[in-house]
Amino acid sequence: MEFTMEYILQMKDVSIHYGNHEPAVRHFSLNLKPRSIAMLVGESGSGKTTILESILGLLPGNGHIGSGDILLEGRSVLGNTEEDWRKIRGQSVTMIAQDTGAMLDPVMTIGKQFTEYLRAHENVSKQEAWETSREMLKKVRLPDPENIMNSYPFQLSGGMRQRVGIAMALAFQPKLLLADEPTSALDVTTQAQIVRQMMELRHISDAAILMITHNLALAAYMSDDIYVLKDGELVDHGSRDGILHHPKSDYTKELLAAVPALRGVGA
Ligand SMILES: Nc1ncnc2c1ncn2[C@@H]1O[C@H](COP(=O)(O)OP(=O)(O)OP(=O)(O)O)[C@@H](O)[C@H]1O
Ligand SMILES: [Mg+2]
Repeated sequence: MEFTMEYILQMKDVSIHYGNHEPAVRHFSLNLKPRSIAMLVGESGSGKTTILESILGLLPGNGHIGSGDILLEGRSVLGNTEEDWRKIRGQSVTMIAQDTGAMLDPVMTIGKQFTEYLRAHENVSKQEAWETSREMLKKVRLPDPENIMNSYPFQLSGGMRQRVGIAMALAFQPKLLLADEPTSALDVTTQAQIVRQMMELRHISDAAILMITHNLALAAYMSDDIYVLKDGELVDHGSRDGILHHPKSDYTKELLAAVPALRGVGA
């Protein structure tokens, strides 16, 4: 297939199964352009995390793609070897989990673990890795990066730890950032700050973002496109304004009606 940068990610009619059960995700399609932000919304169990994991070849247990295709930068990932995945994961595509900040090692300073993480992926000196780490902490707007480098995770707030996690996820300038409810464990003020920073990422690294949220108001605020899932099926998708003003499915209308700030928008 001809290489195209029109889309960073394409999912074409993808069905995902766990074992021999009915597919958890059915005939899902999505197109994501560089620098754009798409949101996956839908109730618990609708298949959101399954979709993100399928993109990185990280489906747990007996999860597998039954049909369809997933293309990263125009190239199908279906035949990827472990070596292919190693080159993609953590570098051109990174994932931020709900508790990315909690994955930091509690007994190592931020500076030590950040530089070790960089040196595990790239052949750089300690000095260079330290500079890069500090630069990344600055980019996610952490105050006094040098001080943070010398701190242990417990000395930072939850929001600061999450920002460290995001800074690490961005260190290799990924083309695609996958985020599974990256802010829902945080208080509302911190959530807003992190969301604003993620929106700025486009200018930091040109990354496209595919993010899961339960929060339709958040999706309305920060997305270009919204995908609404229910029971493993895509019931609505389109531009943010299209979804907010002209939702097709009753389910999307219900979701919109449940958000006070958006109530009536889609009615
Ligand atoms: N490891 C697994 N083994 C078997 N079934 C699974 C596994 N992970 C998820 N599923 C099933 O796949 C479906 C989709 O789950 P998924 O975790 O993708 O939903 P979700 O939309 O991310 O939900 P939530 O909002 O609660 O995180 C569910 O029916 C779930 O039971
Ligand atoms: Mg999930």
